[in-house]
Amino acid sequence: MAPDDSTVTKTGLSSSFKLLASGKVRDVYEIDEKTLLFVATDRVSAYDVVLKNGIPQKGKLLTRMSEFWFSLLPTLLPYLRTHFVTLDLPSSLASSPEAFIYRNRSMQVRRLKVFPIESIVRGYITGSAWSEYTNHGTVHGIGVPKNLQESEKLGQPLWTPSTKAEQGQKDENISPAKAAEIVGKDYADKIQRLSLDIYNAARDYAAERGIIIADTKFEFALDGSAEPPDVVLVDEVLTPDSSRFWRADRYEVGKSQDSLDKQYLRDWLTREKLKGKEGVEMPEEVVRRTGDGYKEAFEKLVGKSWQNC
Ligand SMILES: Nc1ncnc2c1ncn2[C@@H]1O[C@H](COP(=O)(O)OP(=O)(O)OP(=O)(O)O)[C@@H](O)[C@H]1O
Ligand SMILES: [Mg+2]
Repeated sequence: MAPDDSTVTKTGLSSSFKLLASGKVRDVYEIDEKTLLFVATDRVSAYDVVLKNGIPQKGKLLTRMSEFWFSLLPTLLPYLRTHFVTLDLPSSLASSPEAFIYRNRSMQVRRLKVFPIESIVRGYITGSAWSEYTNHGTVHGIGVPKNLQESEKLGQPLWTPSTKAEQGQKDENISPAKAAEIVGKDYADKIQRLSLDIYNAARDYAAERGIIIADTKFEFALDGSAEPPDVVLVDEVLTPDSSRFWRADRYEVGKSQDSLDKQYLRDWLTREKLKGKEGVEMPEEVVRRTGDGYKEAFEKLVGKSWQNC
């Protein structure tokens, strides 16, 4: 096996860089006061629990896909600012024997203060929005037309924020008004506008490549050093971990869709009654099938073989 075929579920850079945070997927290190090293591992989470084993290459696929969008989006939306700095490793790491582990799964990003909301845009009604709609006739408290079917395209994409829960807690869907209470009206409006603009641009791009972006989640941060302070797109962007990607040629309204993400894994967990349990190990078949979805999404959207990532 080539060295970069191994699965990376842990990182070990703390003798060189301070570990600031370890999320479900990413380990975030400090390069300096202004810059972070954002390392995507091959960890996978489902129903808010991280699985014991990982999906080979997943961290690289996520990093390269985010990099792809961070490069493309500002060409479509010239006013968009992002946290992306470079895929290059900091020089001390680039020259170390461990560089091969971190290359292409790490990104240097600007260190910013992240707004404590998840900025979700939905173009189609599915997932938790579909559940709320069937129970209450609303989506994040927003009134939507009656008689919508599952997975139906919404007349207009909806901005449906959620709280950004502490580790181990579940994010909660909130109304746009509640988001404005949390971050302030002006910033909430800016985040909403940017999110809808990015979604619309990405949706049109993906449509030409046979992918429906049913919904997606963005995170934004404030760059207080800009005058006036700027709202900046951060985190990962338009990956299968943050979005529902559907194959356009298999789309059928009135039922749930096969999406190119963790759905195979989620279905397996549900079938095996392992949903929400800690320390679950995925069998080979589940690892492979889940990885295949990530690779297909990468190849369709980025237009390159996943092996080049
Ligand atoms: N530019 C940035 N500056 C500071 N923090 C950032 C920046 N971009 C993203 N972050 C934060 O870094 C963390 C990324 O780690 P990861 O995605 O694994 O975490 P998570 O959010 O716990 O998991 P999940 O996204 O699966 O809920 C998130 O908490 C995110 O808000
Ligand atoms: Mg995250």
